[in-house]
Amino acid sequence: MKALVLAGGKGTRLRPLTYTMAKQLIPVANRPIIHYVMDQISKVGIKDVGVIIAPETGHQIKEALAENPWEVNFSFILQEEPMGLAHAVMVAREFLEEEPFLMYLGDNLIGQTIKGFVDEFYSSRPDALILLKEVEDPRMFGVVEINSDGSVKRLIEKPKEPPSNLALVGIYLFSPLIHEAIAEIKPSFRGELEITDAIQKLLDKGGTVRSFILKHWWLDTGKKDDLLEANRVVLDEWITRSLEGEVDKNSKVVGRVSLAKGARIERSTIRGPVVIGEGTVIKDSLIGPYTSIGKNCLIEGVTLEHSVILDGARLVNIERLEDSVIGRKAVVASSGRNAKALRLMVGDDAEVLL
Ligand code: G1P
Repeated sequence: MKALVLAGGKGTRLRPLTYTMAKQLIPVANRPIIHYVMDQISKVGIKDVGVIIAPETGHQIKEALAENPWEVNFSFILQEEPMGLAHAVMVAREFLEEEPFLMYLGDNLIGQTIKGFVDEFYSSRPDALILLKEVEDPRMFGVVEINSDGSVKRLIEKPKEPPSNLALVGIYLFSPLIHEAIAEIKPSFRGELEITDAIQKLLDKGGTVRSFILKHWWLDTGKKDDLLEANRVVLDEWITRSLEGEVDKNSKVVGRVSLAKGARIERSTIRGPVVIGEGTVIKDSLIGPYTSIGKNCLIEGVTLEHSVILDGARLVNIERLEDSVIGRKAVVASSGRNAKALRLMVGDDAEVLL
């Protein structure tokens, strides 16, 4: 079996971060989301991985995967325009050959291994096996109606009136029959060739489509609050205490804190779960739970909680910052407790809530 990871697309919902960064590279607990995807793929023993990339961000994706601790064979496949998930499969047609494949959207994070899902595909050999999750508001996803035996009745992309609350998680298993179905579909209302429509077509043509319900969490890191939630859950479940950096004697580090080598804590308190990247310096601050701070940041005189701070950011003299996402090399500083004026240089699509 091969894998196809989709790492193209525009990531409009995470602007402004995605103006300069592929959405699959946004860090959760200081690791790019696509690394969690690769962990999953390598754990089920897949060695040949096609990665769909976009012209704008392809080089970043290649760089993020260059170290390749998973020891898989990557084939990077360029999708010139974001014309949909089924279009991405068309572009990868040659790479996929006549083999079954796992298709994995590169910005999806789930809380359990996909081993059970893959085992089910091998044992029941359907033409498509789709991963589903019950969600509160399915209107922004592909939605599936299933029969009582788990077989699929109908699929519909972003329905206004969802027939069920089972959403398509962006993880699919396909036999090569999917290619024939893709060849027969037309662009959707949003102008894309939808994989959801291709699976419906497969069903109409008499193919077997089965579903597998995800019991554990699924996080679609589509927007700021989703990203903060993904960060919270991953820190909560996966971070262990490891202090490789320096902590001075006037600081307190409590609970599950991962402090990378070359990071330094001075006169501060850190309450886990927290992860702090290489070369970051924290002075006279209080860092609260559910916070990820990237590499080479400076945090000085700040109370910070439930936030994601990307590499190279500087936060200085902020009384309290929470539920925030701060981009790479961004500066948030106050000139003093009594400063009345705000002096801002805020990028496109940024959000500042004072
Ligand atoms: C895509 C799929 C949709 C699926 C979702 C999961 O939506 O089209 O069926 O539920 O991924 O993340 P998109 O992210 O393109 O809006």
